[in-house]
Amino acid sequence: MRDPQQTIPPSAPPTRVLSGIQPTGRFHWGNYFGAIRQYIELQSVGESYYFIADLHALTTVREPDRLRGFVRDAALDLVALGLDPDRAALFVQSEVPEVTELTWLLMTVTPMGLLERCHAYKDKKTRGLAADAGLFTYPVLMSADILAYDATIVPVGEDQVQHIEVCRDLAGTFNHLYGDVFTLPKSRLVEAGARVPGTDGQKMSKSYDNTIEVFEEPGAQKKKIMRITTDSRPMEQPKEPEGDHLYDLYSLLAPAADRQAMADLYRRGGFGYGDVKKALVTAAADFFADARRRRALLEADAGAIDAILARGAERARAKAGDVLCRAKRACGLSRAPGGGGERGRKQSRGGEA
Ligand code: TRP
Repeated sequence: MRDPQQTIPPSAPPTRVLSGIQPTGRFHWGNYFGAIRQYIELQSVGESYYFIADLHALTTVREPDRLRGFVRDAALDLVALGLDPDRAALFVQSEVPEVTELTWLLMTVTPMGLLERCHAYKDKKTRGLAADAGLFTYPVLMSADILAYDATIVPVGEDQVQHIEVCRDLAGTFNHLYGDVFTLPKSRLVEAGARVPGTDGQKMSKSYDNTIEVFEEPGAQKKKIMRITTDSRPMEQPKEPEGDHLYDLYSLLAPAADRQAMADLYRRGGFGYGDVKKALVTAAADFFADARRRRALLEADAGAIDAILARGAERARAKAGDVLCRAKRACGLSRAPGGGGERGRKQSRGGEA
């Protein structure tokens, strides 16, 4: 995409990229620059699978219509932002029931203590809140998501790295017990390059209520941008651009030449933040103009997104079905004998660390 520094270097084959995104709200700039953009770039390095994690979202979104809407919006947004459904399988997690079945198999080799240490559950517990078994076993479902597709690379944000470790742990245990069934994945941290400030200067996050949504209606988006908090520094005073959250946002969205001009303006002084905000409104509109157009077209084409998701689920099920079959045979759940070990001897595997 626009910023070459953000490009993830190609990795050694065989590569199967997989990532899941929870549909718990509309995507904001933090989601896009911090994660989605990198996920989409990775679609070109090998076979790839991207899914909308509605089963995971069920642990937090409890209104059916909202959940349905979030899933649909997530799919439209991802395709509009450049996810190519001819290249990557794009699907909805719950449309691949093989994964939930695999979750049970993994659950039987999951030590309670391992899940007790996982932060989503632990944080909730330390805050004195009641957790349900869905939240507690969330990392096992996530492990099944990954293992079901023999994924080798899982691009995730920092908060999910622990879950990939759990996944490797469970896969290792299962393989140790039953033969070489699962491919061990590696996480690929994507957040490092992009810190995206929110409208209050803190990290952009739904929990801080400081987000700007990617496909927010332009008028509303402009209002939000014009209300971004700034310091009360006098206009004449020169200022270092790096680290100023308004500049940081601008530099994510503006073409390199404009970014440089803005940096010079900061260092020279004598400008107002209102001008920077107006420039940011324009830069954002330009940056996402193509995506907005694509989204509008896709949305207007009745059934198009459903067809994409159906096709994605079909591809995903074919793969997950094979892996599930392998796992069931290996642990004795199939009347036909045969462990996963054969596969291990026949073919070499990617992803092991
Ligand atoms: N738990 C992830 C998140 O909240 C979403 C997710 C579900 C996921 N299953 C996954 C990510 C498998 C990577 C791989 O961000």
